[in-house]
Amino acid sequence: MILCENQAFYTGWTKNISLRFRQHKIGNGSRYTKKNKPVKVVYWKTCKDKSTAMKKEIEIKKLTRKQKERLIFGRRNSMNLPVDFDQFEYLSIAPGRVNILGEHIDYNGGSVLPVAIDRYVYLGANKSNEQIIRITALDLNQTISFRIDEIEKKIDVRGNPLPDWSLYPAGVFWAASKQNLRISGFEGIFTSTIPMGTGLSSSAAVEVAFAALMREFCSWEIDNLELAKICQMAENQFIGVNCGLMDQFASANGVQNSLLFFNTTTLDWFPVELPDNVTIVITNSKIPRSLSNSAYNERRDSCEKALNDLRKNYPNRSNLCQISISEFEEVEKELEETLQKRAKHVIHECARVNQAINFLNDNLLFEFGELMKASHNSLRDLYEVSTPELDLLVSIANKINGCYGSRLTGAGFGGCIVSLVQSETVNKFVEELESTYFKKTGKEIETYVCKASDGVIVEWHELSTSIVD
Ligand code: GLA
Repeated sequence: MILCENQAFYTGWTKNISLRFRQHKIGNGSRYTKKNKPVKVVYWKTCKDKSTAMKKEIEIKKLTRKQKERLIFGRRNSMNLPVDFDQFEYLSIAPGRVNILGEHIDYNGGSVLPVAIDRYVYLGANKSNEQIIRITALDLNQTISFRIDEIEKKIDVRGNPLPDWSLYPAGVFWAASKQNLRISGFEGIFTSTIPMGTGLSSSAAVEVAFAALMREFCSWEIDNLELAKICQMAENQFIGVNCGLMDQFASANGVQNSLLFFNTTTLDWFPVELPDNVTIVITNSKIPRSLSNSAYNERRDSCEKALNDLRKNYPNRSNLCQISISEFEEVEKELEETLQKRAKHVIHECARVNQAINFLNDNLLFEFGELMKASHNSLRDLYEVSTPELDLLVSIANKINGCYGSRLTGAGFGGCIVSLVQSETVNKFVEELESTYFKKTGKEIETYVCKASDGVIVEWHELSTSIVD
């Protein structure tokens, strides 16, 4: 839905929102928007295919203005905000993510199956005309201010080094300005309901929330995929973690009730609806992911070395996922032992995701669950990123009635496991997992029953109050 200068909402369907919006803006979109200039995209919904999108378009067109406004501005009211953001004109809301299958292959050209979850970063902000960005991290009770022209130096207005948490927003603005995108001053506060440092992409959600906010402020003409790439660039080059694109992609592009099948080579993706009777349960081992950044970068280096060696036999492959299992088996012995294990995980994990999508389409959930179990074993034995606590949690979860499959999720080295569970058995599942784990270890865990959520949105306040019916 596009808001036009005459305050009307224009509705249409498209495969590419930003491109289509640009066409409308220059008068090549429709007769209506040629006459009534479009101002901004105010609402969108990702659908699984063209015909569903066209049906949705007709549905929306039939709504009254009040009902349309409710669609556009309803999120703020329905989301149970942890803080009162009313003093802010803009509110950016970005979800965390959990990865269901396809671990450590997003930097090896594989396809992954993450889900944006209903745990969010909430960022309220007002634009300013100064060249200064002032951000309060409510959960840490800290405020910092830095000058736009000094971001690269990583210092605040007084010349002190920026604290770690602020490097995420600062990094996003740094990356955007390297892409020649304009940055504006603003004052904002944010808080998060995504457990931090547990492998649920709390930092990617922070990046995406700030990036989407700045896109609004400065009218960047980029879509959510480009937005995610800016966030990844921040993480790779400003923070120093050589991550793939999966986390930022999922936070930006999430689709309600759906897994996201994301091909990290072509960057094509589509949502896959989660069957009704499946619930996503995340269990936090509460083991901090210490040294995870250096170990993560080290795993990535190993993949590059393995690829380099394998290219002696397969010279024109540009990533590990382009090598099939049988091709790998022919030459794997030539690799050094650790590299062989790492590459074997990657190549088999790629194959698992491709198989998983067929199982999902055929509603073969136990078969899908078997792939999750195999993925965990491979992460434990070949990629060596699990911990005894995660292994124990997974083995308990997999034995509970109603659990399709469980595995560690995210980079590993601590953090969380994810389980797909028959919806009607969720309460029993959680109880049994918590009590068995406690009996065996004397330790408490935390469980989050999650829904697949939409990706980032930015709402603005002023409009909702100034619109006349
Ligand atoms: C982290 C990274 C992702 C991905 C996962 C492992 O979450 O940010 O890019 O590599 O680890 O699958």
